[in-house]
Amino acid sequence: MSDSTSHIVVDNLTMKYGDFLIQKDLSFTVRRGDVFVIMGGSGCGKSTLLKHLVGLVSPACGRVLYDGTSFWDSSLAERDVLLRRVGILYQKGALWTSMTLAENVAMPLQQYTQYSATQIKEIARYKLALVGLAGFEDYYPSEISGGMQKRAGLARAIALDPDVLFFDEPSAGLDPISSKLLDDLIIELNRGLGATIVVVTHELPSIFAIGTNSVFLDADSKTMIASGDPKELLRTSKDPRVIKFLTRGEREV
Ligand SMILES: Nc1ncnc2c1ncn2[C@@H]1O[C@H](COP(=O)(O)OP(=O)(O)O)[C@@H](O)[C@H]1O
Ligand SMILES: [Mg+2]
Repeated sequence: MSDSTSHIVVDNLTMKYGDFLIQKDLSFTVRRGDVFVIMGGSGCGKSTLLKHLVGLVSPACGRVLYDGTSFWDSSLAERDVLLRRVGILYQKGALWTSMTLAENVAMPLQQYTQYSATQIKEIARYKLALVGLAGFEDYYPSEISGGMQKRAGLARAIALDPDVLFFDEPSAGLDPISSKLLDDLIIELNRGLGATIVVVTHELPSIFAIGTNSVFLDADSKTMIASGDPKELLRTSKDPRVIKFLTRGEREV
């Protein structure tokens, strides 16, 4: 469902913590409607890249552009407007444990919109239904399974109808069935809401099932060594590191 319009452009990005280089010279484009996968081994900088994309960490060098506007060169007020269009599902789900699911989803609506209490309740109910949690509005996070918590986190992430959604290892810690459910949901949101999706994952079934585009970060050379449709990469890449990752080491080149 991706089209040719660029949504997020990463231009010559270098990421550091203090003097410690994480990744350098990253340049790639996330097209509008892409399911864009950030791949690479543990500790190579995938979560760090996500943090640069959502404005939590600033680049040592280079730019991140949203629809042509350079995020880090914008004023705080302009950044806030850009971030309103962004939904994030953190690795741990991060629901407020003292609030019901409906209250969790209502939070961003109370914070950022002028809707009435009744309207907010209605929207929260609708968002929970979208992720398969109709009837669970009044449950607390501790009363539902890990997979359901992830989906509730997703309902909260889409509360403000974002046009881009970020996921950091959404299926980490889930059983294969819950993991598949979440993948299906991500595809549904991509197709149904037309949202661009950026996802960090090393679940191969997910990568091939949902990815339309990707970047592959290498920990040793500290830069990207591949980008493009993961299925195409599997077919055409001559890089042993990429093939090893995409085949779990079962195919050599
Ligand atoms: N806040 C931080 N300060 C300093 N170093 C960090 C910080 N967060 C992560 N790192 C380091 O940066 C590297 C990349 O981390 P991360 O982006 O979490 O990797 P990944 O998500 O690919 O596993 C790791 O070596 C990690 O220890
Ligand atoms: Mg990570």
